[in-house]
Formats: sequence, structure tokens, C-alpha cells
Amino acid sequence: MSKLSDAAFRSVCDYFWRVSGIRLTDAKRALVLSRLHRLALEHGHDDLDSFIERLTRGQLPKAAEVAVVDRLTTNETYFFREPAHFADLRERARKHSGPQGRKGDFRVWSAASSSGEEAYSAAMQLDDTLGDTPWRIHGTDLSTTVVAAARTGLYALDRAQSLSQDFLRRYCLRGEGPYEGQMLIDRKLRARVDFQCANLTQPLPDQLPMFDVIFLRNVLIYFEPAAKADIVRRVITKLKPDGVLYTGHAESLSGLGLPLAPVAPAIYRHE
Ligand SMILES: C[S@@+](CC[C@H](N)C(=O)[O-])C[C@H]1O[C@@H](n2cnc3c(N)ncnc32)[C@H](O)[C@@H]1O
Repeated sequence: MSKLSDAAFRSVCDYFWRVSGIRLTDAKRALVLSRLHRLALEHGHDDLDSFIERLTRGQLPKAAEVAVVDRLTTNETYFFREPAHFADLRERARKHSGPQGRKGDFRVWSAASSSGEEAYSAAMQLDDTLGDTPWRIHGTDLSTTVVAAARTGLYALDRAQSLSQDFLRRYCLRGEGPYEGQMLIDRKLRARVDFQCANLTQPLPDQLPMFDVIFLRNVLIYFEPAAKADIVRRVITKLKPDGVLYTGHAESLSGLGLPLAPVAPAIYRHE
């Protein structure tokens, strides 16, 4: 295995911080070494330090720069993660489509969507609750690899463990032949869910609509307080007046001076 010098580790951490806003700690050194060593080899470099030097000097092809960011992000996710949010989503959708509800599409943003499980879980919940009331889900993530995976709606069957039998039967097609061992999210749901690359530390994508619910979960944990506050301030400009923000239950927004009022654990509305 190639070596990673202290200087190269620091410089790749700085590079990743500039691009993603995330600071990698010393504890990530082994991970950086193993993930980037493989990548460097794929790009024909057997010396990781020189690969990193070329990266930071802007001498690598764009595809390699993108791949570095992809390899260094943590994309762990699963269907119906933190289920209390999906129960809350069901109640909000029910109110929206009831006699007192507002007209118009019910809109959800999965604002660090990873490979799409969060967005498709919300899609299953909305299809089940809303009937004919229109809805749309938008997913965004920094990593091009996970965005491409999310768009396919194709998952290994063992990802289905956190899905109910009912939703699995109704919304997932079991793969056959070359797709054996995989499942595909139903076309009806995929038609209402789209994904785009977007960096939360940058201005929001153009033409992003207003949302009833924004999932911003298990991503804030990677940012320092100032960057975290900055991201949340920008994201909540996209909440409809009675919309809510969901954060990961392990993430805290306290002490950041944000114009948010807690509604329930890890659920906030704009003040
Ligand atoms: C651990 S996953 C969380 C996925 C999902 N929200 C959940 O809770 O299961 C964190 C995701 O945040 C994305 N991410 C990290 N930094 C980001 C940034 N600056 N802008 C947008 N997405 C980012 C990563 O690529 C990764 O897919």
C-alpha cells in the first residue's frame, strides 16, 4: 500500500474542506489513505503523495477531482431511517390533502439525499397518504456518484430490510435475470422524484421551489458550527410558511442563533 505523508494528508484535507465545507480529522487518515490509494491507482498513479500534489495544483482531469470528493464523502443511509420523521410526514400530508388543506403540490426536499433511500421512503409515504393530491420530491447531494445511483432507483435486495412487507410488495419490483438480487423502485414513484448535484455550502440551485418538508439529516454533523448555521439559514429560506425542517436526531442546532422553533425532536419550523 502507498504511503501518505503528513503534508499530503493536510493538503488533501484542506482541498476537501474548500470543496465540501467538511473538515476531516486525524481519525480519518486511514480512510483517506485506503480510499484515495485505490483511486490514484485507477488514474495511473502509484504514488499517493504525488497524486495529491497534482490534485491540489489543479493538474488532474476534472473527473479525478470529482472522484476524490466522491470517495471522501460518507454516504451511509437506509430506507425509513429515523422513522419518527416519516410518521410526521404522513400526518402533514394527510392535513394537506384534507378538507382544510391547501391546494397545490405537496413538496419535499431531501437535501443530502445520498443514494436516494430517504427520498424514495418519503415517496412511498406520500403515495400511500395523498391519493390523487399531487406531490413531488427533489433530492440533492454533493456526490455525483450517489446522485447517479439515486436516479436509477435500483437497490440491492438486502437494502429492503427496513421496508415494511406492504411497501416492499407495492413499490419495489424484484429483479430477474441480470437484475437478480436487486429491486427497482416502482416507475410511478420514480416519475415524481428527481435528483440533482448541489453543494450545501454554495448558493442554492436556481429555480428551487418552496417546500412543505425539508430533510436535512445526518449531514450537519460533519460541519463546524459557523458552516452549519450558514447552511441551515440558506436551506430554510425554501420552507413554505407552515413548512418544517427535519434534522438527524443526533444533530444539534442549539446555540447557533437560528430563527427556528422546535416542534418535536429534530423537527423545526421557521420563526
Ligand atoms: C450520511 S449521508 C446522509 C443521507 C441521508 N440524509 C440520511 O440521513 O440517511 C450524508 C450525505 O451528505 C452529503 N454531503 C456532504 N457534504 C455535502 C455538501 N457540502 N453538500 C451537499 N451534500 C453533502 C454526502 O455526499 C452524503 O451523501
